Amino acid sequence: MVPAVNSFNWRSESDEPAPSRLSPVDDRLTADAALRRVRRGEHLLYTGDFHNAKQLLGAMGRRLPEPPSARSPLEAFRAERRARQLEHETLSRIVVALDRSYRLELKRAPDVAEACRWVWGEPEADTTVVSLKTLLGMLGAAEWRRKGLAVPGLEGKIHPHYGVYLPTRTDYVELLLSITEVKGKKVFDVGTGTGVLSFLLLQRGAASAVATDCDSRAVACARENAERLGLSKRFEVMEGDLFPPGKADLVVSNPPWIPEPPKNRVDRAVFDEDDRFLRGFLEGLTGHLNPGGEGLLLLSDLAVLLGLRSAGWLDEQLARNELVVKWKRSTPARHSKAKDRSDPLHAARSREVTTLYGLSPARP
Ligand SMILES: C[S@@+](CC[C@H](N)C(=O)[O-])C[C@H]1O[C@@H](n2cnc3c(N)ncnc32)[C@H](O)[C@@H]1O
Repeated sequence: MVPAVNSFNWRSESDEPAPSRLSPVDDRLTADAALRRVRRGEHLLYTGDFHNAKQLLGAMGRRLPEPPSARSPLEAFRAERRARQLEHETLSRIVVALDRSYRLELKRAPDVAEACRWVWGEPEADTTVVSLKTLLGMLGAAEWRRKGLAVPGLEGKIHPHYGVYLPTRTDYVELLLSITEVKGKKVFDVGTGTGVLSFLLLQRGAASAVATDCDSRAVACARENAERLGLSKRFEVMEGDLFPPGKADLVVSNPPWIPEPPKNRVDRAVFDEDDRFLRGFLEGLTGHLNPGGEGLLLLSDLAVLLGLRSAGWLDEQLARNELVVKWKRSTPARHSKAKDRSDPLHAARSREVTTLYGLSPARP
């Protein structure tokens, strides 16, 4: 049955407005016809077989235009972002309906109820409508949350929540393992995500960690993971912008590293318009350090390689905030995209280096 307008709860990760009309479609719909219809602005409510619906999304995606060839890494980056946005807007118009118990009434549909409860809480209406693409993302995330993710140097696993930055890039985590003087220290972790950096430092002897994140999902995720790892007595996490109140001996952060506007909630882990986070971190660091304390900043140079930030930008910001680099350790990016020659950003990504900077106030 097709839910009437205003009779369903619409869920969107990018704050897209609720569809004004839903057109039911089934397994007879071809990818070409689906593309024609969504380009006319229709939202297509899939009522056929779940696996066919997934195949339809794949076939539609393959028919979308490739980004045009680019003359510079920055052009390639912008073209790639536009292509991903178009893909998102197009594919998000294939939607599905869930009932009062979050049951997906499609043939061969998996049980999606737990994944939905984890992200949205209890159902608020008889019908919930969501794009199939988002629902598939939630199912993938639920699998990670159930299984957990092993992280080098961490005893136990991280169980990430949907929409929270996944520490699958182990290069930056390994850099943090090289820190030796951790015992007994009070830590601040700015932009904690799953909490992984705090947990590594706590397991290596830090006395306590206070973490922040601007996203409530990250806060809930970090709190749950601290409990699972038996660290909750020494770990506190709060929703907020940048630093927690007070001072610490070590202030660690792995900020979003691309200075461009985020397009949705999940993007805020990676995209930081006008370097707002990074500037704020450098401006506020000295005021949040105990005497003799140190900032630990993890930063990739991808923004420099893409031409989004000048090579001297970080040094200028450090000088402006009277901070000095006491030491640094770098590692080449080893994540899968750095090796993928078909990636339009391969030229920049294959040269990407991540650095851990040990920062102190120039005037102690
Ligand atoms: C690159 S992720 C790093 C997460 C985690 N520290 C790690 O290393 O896996 C950046 C995190 O910063 C958070 N964030 C973005 N802007 C923020 C802000 N203004 N204040 C606090 N957290 C912020 C994002 O939600 C995200 O969890």
